[in-house]
Amino acid sequence: PLSSADSSGEFLQCLAAGVPSQLVVTRGSSSFASVLASSVRNPRFLAPGTVRPLCVVTPTNASHVQAAVLCGRRHGVRLRVRSGGHDYEGLSFRSVRQEVFAVVDLAGLRSVRVNRRAATAWVDSGATVGEMYYAVAKADAGLAFPAGLCPTIGVGGHFSGGGIGMMMRKYGLSVDNVLDAMVVDANGRLLDKKAMGRDYFWALRGGGGESFGIVLSWKVRLVAVPRTVTVFNIQKTLAQGAVDAVTKWQTLAPAALPDELTIRVVVQNKQALFQSLYLGTCDQLLPVMGSRFPELGMARADCREMSWLQSMVYINGGTSSTPVEVLLNRTTSLSVYTKNKSDYVKQAIPSASWERIFPWFDGAGAGLIILEPHGGKVGSIADGDTPYPHRSGVLYNIQYVAFWPVTTATPAVPDWIKNVHAFMEPFVTSNPREAYVNYRDLDIGENAVAGGVTSYESGRVWGEKYFGAANFRRLALTKGKVDAGDYFRNEQSIPPLVSIK
Ligand code: FDA
Repeated sequence: PLSSADSSGEFLQCLAAGVPSQLVVTRGSSSFASVLASSVRNPRFLAPGTVRPLCVVTPTNASHVQAAVLCGRRHGVRLRVRSGGHDYEGLSFRSVRQEVFAVVDLAGLRSVRVNRRAATAWVDSGATVGEMYYAVAKADAGLAFPAGLCPTIGVGGHFSGGGIGMMMRKYGLSVDNVLDAMVVDANGRLLDKKAMGRDYFWALRGGGGESFGIVLSWKVRLVAVPRTVTVFNIQKTLAQGAVDAVTKWQTLAPAALPDELTIRVVVQNKQALFQSLYLGTCDQLLPVMGSRFPELGMARADCREMSWLQSMVYINGGTSSTPVEVLLNRTTSLSVYTKNKSDYVKQAIPSASWERIFPWFDGAGAGLIILEPHGGKVGSIADGDTPYPHRSGVLYNIQYVAFWPVTTATPAVPDWIKNVHAFMEPFVTSNPREAYVNYRDLDIGENAVAGGVTSYESGRVWGEKYFGAANFRRLALTKGKVDAGDYFRNEQSIPPLVSIK
């Protein structure tokens, strides 16, 4: 068990023996603030009063990570792992409660090693998905990977929680394509899939970050994409039939479109934006849209044909001529505060209800929702095959996004997001009201610690929403086997379940 005494001095001394001093940035260092902020996306968690780490360790090889774990165990200092720093609650670099902890920041471990012939790659956790997309496409423009859209999200956190994106209907989540992983466990051992065993490997592929140790790299199966893909953005106002189009989209997009076609919807300013990626040409897409979704009125002029790599730039707000090298830019903007929540929908919401939902996205303080269609491959995998349980029967995921400028000087979350989330209750899954672990939301529950370890009962409150009851239990039993002392933990880490209750 960890000593409760603050043994930070001994911890730092221990680190000095295993990690070069320039890789340990302590609070007293002039670069501490910038290193801490380096990959942060949400300035809410940099505000004064935030509980910060004792130091940030920036390893350049596995032995540094192992040393950090061993020193942390020995001297009673917990580690929080950070890959891309995009956690929606900032749990990779701040603590909600007073606590002495260190951050292991993997940004320096970010190589992507592509095996073209086998169509696989080893990707280090500190790579961003943008860096991964770039490296894969540069090695072979016919290869790609199904993962999220924002290029600065880190592979480490993203894969730990699932990884939903514009190709999941064709190829599944990121974790559905993970073949192997290298993890440093709570005893400081470096394990691959074979050494860690079945349950441990299962838990890493979607059971949420932090709980199971520090994943250093992931072996993935790359997927085939055509040389030319087609994207379009079509906006509909209420007067142009936004409500009817969204109502129809709900059952069409997950089930009645080819798996090569993903159309997601962003509802904002009382308008619906239909954003699409099609793994094929405009000539192939036009008849599909004309027959299945004529309400959108898609025409040839809406088509933008480009490489798959360029499409990742385009859908994320670039143009067809933005250089693909923007995917390598790791600089994040700190200009807005954000707060996110999520839901899943299994029964289409009637148009009369959409008439009442749209007005929520209007006026000062209102944010947006993003609807991500499931179905296809992501929906065909059994609920228990990975910890991500939102599979068969899910029509789409809803992500709620509130954002407000830092110039408002207050990081307080606007009521809007809680109110719209409460309003949506009758329309979304219930018992449990499902949520996506990568859209982390502490409003749905926070761990309580009893007798030195996280209590299973407190974890169930949020954990069954993210993982379902059966998967959550299997995650907790796995945690009990690999980290019974609960060394790796945060406000929403998997509690260790040791005895069968
Ligand atoms: P970060 O480093 O903050 O880590 C997140 C969690 O994982 C923390 O608990 C951390 O301790 C843990 N962790 C990190 N690295 C680890 C490692 N190597 N081993 C073990 N644990 C580790 N999601 C999605 O599915 N599809 C999408 O399209 C998007 N889009 C998107 C856009 C934007 C702008 C943001 C901010 C977020 C998203 N996300 C998303 C959510 C994203 O997948 C989620 O926030 C990931 O956890 C981010 O991973 P990072 O490595 O960046 O986070």
